[in-house]
Amino acid sequence: MSEFITNVPAYTLNTGAVMPAVGLGTFGSDKYTPDRIATAVSGAIRIGYRMLDCASVYQNEDQIGKVLDGLFKEGVVKREDLFITSKVWNDQHREVKKACEKSLKDLGLSYVDLYFVHWPFPNYHAPGCDGDSRNPDSKPFSVDEFMDTWRQMEELYDAGLVRAIGMSNMTISKLDAVLPLCRIQPAALEMECHPSFQQQELFDYAKAHNIVPIGFCPIGSPSRPERDRCETDVADTELPEVVKVAADHNIHPAVVCIKWAVQRGLCTIPFSVKEPQYISNLKCTTEDPLSAEEMELLKKADRDCRLVKGQVFLWPGADDWTQLWE
Ligand SMILES: NC(=O)c1ccc[n+]([C@@H]2O[C@H](COP(=O)([O-])OP(=O)(O)OC[C@H]3O[C@@H](n4cnc5c(N)ncnc54)[C@H](OP(=O)(O)O)[C@@H]3O)[C@@H](O)[C@H]2O)c1
Repeated sequence: MSEFITNVPAYTLNTGAVMPAVGLGTFGSDKYTPDRIATAVSGAIRIGYRMLDCASVYQNEDQIGKVLDGLFKEGVVKREDLFITSKVWNDQHREVKKACEKSLKDLGLSYVDLYFVHWPFPNYHAPGCDGDSRNPDSKPFSVDEFMDTWRQMEELYDAGLVRAIGMSNMTISKLDAVLPLCRIQPAALEMECHPSFQQQELFDYAKAHNIVPIGFCPIGSPSRPERDRCETDVADTELPEVVKVAADHNIHPAVVCIKWAVQRGLCTIPFSVKEPQYISNLKCTTEDPLSAEEMELLKKADRDCRLVKGQVFLWPGADDWTQLWE
């Protein structure tokens, strides 16, 4: 077996729970099969990963659940040593408990450590749809509708089905509108974050509100689905700032993105089904840190390049994806 990686940094949530700073992403980008991802989950846990970022819409929670069951039975890891997230998908905002129970059943767990509202509106598109798909029932963000969903999240927390609750794909103006109304504050905020899209204001806002930011697409999602690609996108692993730091450390530019994220104070959830990659992504946070000068240089890599634009969630009459991020 490969080496076992320890001493990965961690964050303490506002619940008191400790969450590793690196987790394995599990969205296969319509490219990797559920079984391939579940096999990677098994391999990743065996080499030291203790966090998984799951979601019902990734359509692989049952395969991951079977792998977890096997690892528990084999004595590789105990449930309490893992930090597992899941998310309610957009079409289940009015039945959050049912959605959560389905994820728990699929994952074979009695609770998840963190449960997210995946997107702040109930606008639905079929998994795997193309970028031009629109749903005529889609609506703009509504504080009332969001809070109805959040109340159901709070009930899940009260019932012990989830140990913390979080939000995802939010903006500062949406957070300003909903945080004062929350009985239970979010413990974490999942947000797109990589060198070319640093979201410094949102990152600072989360930290100031004692919400741990979790950065998704940390490597710039090089395998993302076609619907999430456009001509103006930049590749994080080709940015001159990232390439220079990578050359100086003799590491892959992807690994620079992970080091940068964790040293900046993010939890990061890189996806990979390839063992050498997922080993590097965890191990890199335990050795050979970036210098203060390198962290400064990487600040200059920001190109304000959002990759997950969410255009499939636009409502009738809205034609510009930036309206989703107001
Ligand atoms: N909350 C949300 O709305 C949301 C949205 C998007 C993503 N997420 C979460 O964030 C996770 C990560 O995002 P992502 O999967 O889109 O993108 P990502 O982690 O930025 O990129 C993953 C890809 O990077 C490459 N890679 C990974 N490690 C590497 C290494 N050490 N060296 C070289 N290349 C490496 C792999 O490409 P190859 O496959 O070509 O090898 C891999 O498929 C998802 O899996 C999901 O859990 C959440």
